[in-house]
Amino acid sequence: MKTTTLRLHTGFQIAEVDARIFGGFLEHMGRAVYEGVYEPGSAHADDAGWRTDVLEALRGLDMTVMRYPGGNFVSGYHWQDGIGPPELRPRLREFAWNSVETNRVGTEEFVSLAQRMGWQPMLAVNLGTGTPEEARNWVEYCNSPAGTRYADMRVEAGSAEPHGVKLWCLGNEMDGPWQIGHVPAEQYGWRAQQAAKLMKDADRSIELVVSGSSHPLLPTYLEWDRTALEIVGELADYLSAHRYVGAPRGDTADFLAVGNAIDRQIEEADAVCRFVQGKRKSAKRAYVCFDEWNVWYRTFGKLDQMDGGGKQAPHLIEEIYSLEDALVVAGFLHSFVRHADAVKVANLAQIVNVIAPLVTRGDALLVQTIYWPFAMFSKRRRGVSLRTVVEGPGYESPSYGRVDDVDASAILDGARLSVFLTNRAASEAEVAIDVANRSVAGLEGAELLTGPSAETCNTFEEPHVVRSEPFEDVAIQGGGARTRLPPLSFLAMTLRLG
Ligand code: AHR
Repeated sequence: MKTTTLRLHTGFQIAEVDARIFGGFLEHMGRAVYEGVYEPGSAHADDAGWRTDVLEALRGLDMTVMRYPGGNFVSGYHWQDGIGPPELRPRLREFAWNSVETNRVGTEEFVSLAQRMGWQPMLAVNLGTGTPEEARNWVEYCNSPAGTRYADMRVEAGSAEPHGVKLWCLGNEMDGPWQIGHVPAEQYGWRAQQAAKLMKDADRSIELVVSGSSHPLLPTYLEWDRTALEIVGELADYLSAHRYVGAPRGDTADFLAVGNAIDRQIEEADAVCRFVQGKRKSAKRAYVCFDEWNVWYRTFGKLDQMDGGGKQAPHLIEEIYSLEDALVVAGFLHSFVRHADAVKVANLAQIVNVIAPLVTRGDALLVQTIYWPFAMFSKRRRGVSLRTVVEGPGYESPSYGRVDDVDASAILDGARLSVFLTNRAASEAEVAIDVANRSVAGLEGAELLTGPSAETCNTFEEPHVVRSEPFEDVAIQGGGARTRLPPLSFLAMTLRLG
């Protein structure tokens, strides 16, 4: 077996890892809100109706930022429908998923949930059927002190103090023809610029995300981003990127190479940010906000999965995840960490039931495979991303080009070095970790994620087949560390440097 060597140097630093790359996304879609986080009738519900079992499981992911309320949903959402006494809120047919929205959960409920969970709220405004003024009024509602109309509505709702919502998305996937209110890039740019100006006039401290390309295959890819960023100009703080990936070919090795495409998408979005900064001769650099990402293909585009049929909390895109998918999720996180200088926010889409790490069935809760890599990374996220050089065997993927068998990222936090390794190969991988300027003195802990086969999923009947387990097979020798990764596995370990 050929050894893979991961070469690191503590002086070769990319940037501090922004904790906000461990964010999530909660949309009013399918059973994400109702029957997901909120279900007053559940045996697990607390007095406010939140499902404590779901929240407890979410705590294990320790998400930092939560994007809300959509997604496509937001392009037809009027935030004022979700405030005031719940019994007076309108019951509406919502446009994006053809479902019934009761508005039982709205801004106040979401913000209180976010506070309780330690999430920084990230609100998306409606630039589909909504107006720039409506977006601005939501900022006043959330962030202004009492004394003016919208701030006083918040006070009336029971929140005397401002919520201080810092991150705001200027619409969602406005480049996509499927989006309610989709327009050409230039029109979106002006609409977003007008909203941005009004929103920042209401609160100078907020940060704004320009809605960027939804997928590299769209014909407007990058041109959309450039146009929108140029028009929004200095008011833009981030450019959004979205990516859902899948393995329609049924080829595990090929699918696990998709990380190359994620790397490339980040670098291209960053290139647009840098290009626009240069062209504007501006000191201000917009960063990449990867605010929707996941594996999603089994239920993608199927009419019965995307159309709620006029029901309340319909079952929509409830993807069941395998070990292979979990390794791809690890691949996204490797890529975000390796691009810590460019990606400052990222949101796993979504958190429960809808393409999610958690699934509810009645009062039961299932933890899916993709939960584990996120949890394993998230608990070791603090520090600076280091450059990784991988030397070892690799292969040519038909779709994504050449990759190493072992995918890697590393985070340095003082004398603690966390190393993340994915073995994409169907055979064992021997890995040596060499820190050029330091010696490895010990192992603080390691966890491994693997399973019987690439297709293995957790089910309600057998819920713990794929989960992280403590791992001890790490030898500290000769100033470095050595380990053997089982086929198709993900290892997260923390080493102590001497
Ligand atoms: O996350 C599901 C949907 O995917 C979102 O509503 C939309 O933004 C994206 O297309």
